[in-house]
Formats: sequence, C-alpha cells, structure tokens
Amino acid sequence: MNIDRKRSRFLLWIFLLLIVTACDAETSVLNPHGEGAEHIANLLIFMLIVGAVVYLQVIILFLIALFRRRAATTNDTPDTKPPSRNAQLFIIANGIALPIIILTIVFGFNLVTLAELSPANASADLTIEVIGHRWWWEVRYPDHSVVTANEIYIPTGAQVELRLTSADVIHSLWVPALNGKADLIPGRSNRMYLYTDEAGDYLGMCAELCGIQHAKMQFRVIAQPPEDFEQWLEQQRQPAPSPQDEVTLRGQQIFLGSACVYCHTVRGTNASGVIGPDLTHIASRDTIGAGAVPNTLGNLAGWIIDPQSIKPGNLMPPMYIEGDDLQALLAYLETLR
Ligand code: CUA
Repeated sequence: MNIDRKRSRFLLWIFLLLIVTACDAETSVLNPHGEGAEHIANLLIFMLIVGAVVYLQVIILFLIALFRRRAATTNDTPDTKPPSRNAQLFIIANGIALPIIILTIVFGFNLVTLAELSPANASADLTIEVIGHRWWWEVRYPDHSVVTANEIYIPTGAQVELRLTSADVIHSLWVPALNGKADLIPGRSNRMYLYTDEAGDYLGMCAELCGIQHAKMQFRVIAQPPEDFEQWLEQQRQPAPSPQDEVTLRGQQIFLGSACVYCHTVRGTNASGVIGPDLTHIASRDTIGAGAVPNTLGNLAGWIIDPQSIKPGNLMPPMYIEGDDLQALLAYLETLR
C-alpha cells in the first residue's frame, strides 16, 4: 500500500468518526425520550441481538465446513457419500425449523409493537392538527384557536394526538426521539400519538421525498411542563399587538399594503392569507423556512427580499422593498412575539 492510499484510508476513518460524533442524541432512534420511541427501540435492539446471534452461528458453521472440506480433500478419494442421518437432521433443524421459530417470534414482537404504537381507543389529553405543505408544517390547536408553524409545543406527561394531513403531496412526520413515522396524505387524516415525561427540544423531519426542498422540511417538538405549556398557549392565543411607535406603525402599513397579505395571516389585522405560514407570532419562532435558517433580522430581511436564494422552489416570490421600508417592516415583524 503506498503512502497516498494509506493517507486516504486514514482520512476516511477520521471522516467516519466525525459522522458518528455528529450524531445528535436528541435525534437518535436508540436514545428514546418518548413512549412510542421506546417500543421501537426495544424492537430494534431485540432484532439486532437475534440477527447478531444468527450471523455468528452462520459464520461458525461456515468455518467448520471450510475446515472439514480441507481435511476431506487431503486424501484423494472424492467424497460422494450422501449425508448421514444426523447431518440431515442438523440441516432440517437449522435450515428450516430454527428460521421458522425465529421469524415467528420476531413477527409476533412486531405485531405487539405496532399495536402499542397505535392504540385503538386511546383518549388524548390534547389534539393538534399538523398539515404538511411544500415545504413547511402548519400546526393548529383546534380547541385553543392557536395556529403556528414548524414548532409543535406539547405538555409533558400528556397523551397528545396528532391529526395529520397534507395540503399538496405526501409528506411524512418523524420525530426519532419520540415516535416512528406517519404519512401526511392529502384528503386523509392519519393519527399519531406523542407521549413524553421529559421536557426537551426534539428535532423532527420529513421522511418522505416530497420535492426539491424535502431536506429542508424540519420542525421541532418542544415538550414543556404543563404550566409552561399553558403559558405558551395563552401567549399564542393573543392577537398581534398594535404598533406602539412610528417605525413599527409604518412597518405595519407596508406589510398590509403589500402582497404579503394574500398569503399570510396576522390575527388582529386584515391580513388573512392562508397559503403561507401564520405570522401572528413569527418573532417567537427560532427558525424561518422550516429550519432553513435561524430567525434573525438579517435572515428575515434576506428571506423577504429573495426567498428563492435561501430555499429554491418555495412558493414565496421576491419582494421589492426599499431599504428604509424594509427596516420598518422588520421592526414591525419583530414586535410579533
Ligand atoms: Cu415533506 Cu419530504
């Protein structure tokens, strides 16, 4: 092996190790933080152990066969004898009986896990509607008049039912730390349950190829203690505050006088578009464009002027807004907490 190949192999190992360290604990299927994810992790670990034992057995038998064959070929008489009775029994036991037993057990475990993941008559403490869009998530709390986007707040210690549907193509909702995947299908309502006792911030993503920005269709599930969650709900229920100074007032006028209102809603104003995300509390969110970039003033300005450069293919057209007007508009959006 020459130096170059040694070096490239070394770099490959470093790269693989870096990938492993990049694994975020919050998004690992093997590090469950919710009831559903725990059932799935148990099944996965069970299957890994069974798979490893079977694999080991096959390798051992393979080595024995290899060794015996060598021994047989040392004397020159070809081995044409039919397998002995014991050898036949061995083949039937290991080649037919054992696989049937193992696969039946694994299948049974799968069925039990499936039943646990979708309880037939579970009663939910909270219902949330999640509607998939290209490429963002609309999140509605129908019993609380709250609409938001790309962030699903849930209380800890409560059974949360997600009702999933789509406005355009098939998407799939996946929060690896909390549960498995469920499809969002146009014209259909699927159910999924989230239950966790651990407050935290859990990353979710779209798990069904849905177009050019499928990879930038992230969301977060934020699990909070019930008191904090109630507080969040109360704050989100409020309509947008009225502008308190000249700059934000001008910003609001620019917003209401532009094309923004055809696609976006700001409760408490005349803006009631439903194509894009509800902006009533946009300033309280951590990212824009479904996890595309952090929600900073600079990114927001870049998004308004040229959204296609941040997320090509999304439905928002570029806005031609003069510098001063843009500053005022940003100041207004900042008040939408
Ligand atoms: Cu939505 Cu992939």
